[in-house]
Amino acid sequence: MKKSSRVPMKPSGSFLGLVGPVAAPPPPDDPTPAPTPAAEESLVAPPAELPAVVPLSPLDRASQETVSNLEASRLIVLTDPRSPHADRIRYLRMHLRSLAKSGGLRTIVVTSAQPKDGKSTISSNLATSLAEHGKRRVLLVEADLHQPSLAQGLMIPQRPGLSECLEAGADPFEMLIRLEPLEIFLLPAGKPRDHSPSDLIQSEACGRLIEKLKAHFDWIVIDTPPVEALSDSIAISRHADGVLFVVRADETPRRSVSHAIDQIGRSRVLGVVLNAAEGLGNLYSKYGRYYGERR
Ligand SMILES: Nc1ncnc2c1ncn2[C@@H]1O[C@H](COP(=O)(O)OP(=O)(O)O)[C@@H](O)[C@H]1O
Ligand SMILES: [Mg+2]
Repeated sequence: MKKSSRVPMKPSGSFLGLVGPVAAPPPPDDPTPAPTPAAEESLVAPPAELPAVVPLSPLDRASQETVSNLEASRLIVLTDPRSPHADRIRYLRMHLRSLAKSGGLRTIVVTSAQPKDGKSTISSNLATSLAEHGKRRVLLVEADLHQPSLAQGLMIPQRPGLSECLEAGADPFEMLIRLEPLEIFLLPAGKPRDHSPSDLIQSEACGRLIEKLKAHFDWIVIDTPPVEALSDSIAISRHADGVLFVVRADETPRRSVSHAIDQIGRSRVLGVVLNAAEGLGNLYSKYGRYYGERR
């Protein structure tokens, strides 16, 4: 692939830049009124006693090993909240919140054209940022059943999750893991036994499951496989309010991006995240010095 056909890194581009939205957010299929603060309060809280709680040690009490695990998982909003990347994630959160105000946005699918574009990295950072230290109930769904990496990245051992809910009718609330100190809930991928991952994701049961979960969370962030290889993310996006599309700067071929966005449907794309673009770090270090900040 020739370099020129790839999505370029703009000279002033950001480490993680929001270059969308591609189009105005679509009305949800079943348009419900925008949640008012009172309506949000009336959401059903997740069961208080969740059997599967995996506390990741709070950072101030964490062992070196745990800290480096978190760093390895690129949860930069937690490990380096003043970094350019964390700042861009907050900007993304602001963008999504402003879309949410104008029409019932609650469930977001994160996808991209190809593997390794940064979907899982952005999903986990965004979910953590949306949780705002637990003020919002946020669920992160590991819906890439082919190459699940979220739980693994957080050093959580293989355990049942979405696959078992879809295949064996397991109760999703018994599968949820509350992650501390991220203060989000994770529904891990689990392991399909008798069905292909795509059959499970594209089943009606998957739609019903997401609908059921929606009543319990302020935000649901769904990490999915790449569009180019599989239709899972397109299928699951039908149950979501919109899609966040990740592009890896200087890596994802231009043609793949436009083909994938066409497949998703332009009106479904809430925004495009340009991941790993160079340049913003320099900008931040310049202004960081100017404003006397650490960076
Ligand atoms: N902005 C970034 N800067 C540097 N490395 C990144 C960035 N985003 C993702 N990565 C790394 O790239 C790899 C692929 O990211 P990942 O989020 O797993 O992609 P995907 O889920 O799209 O396959 C991982 O090793 C991840 O740590
Ligand atoms: Mg991934």
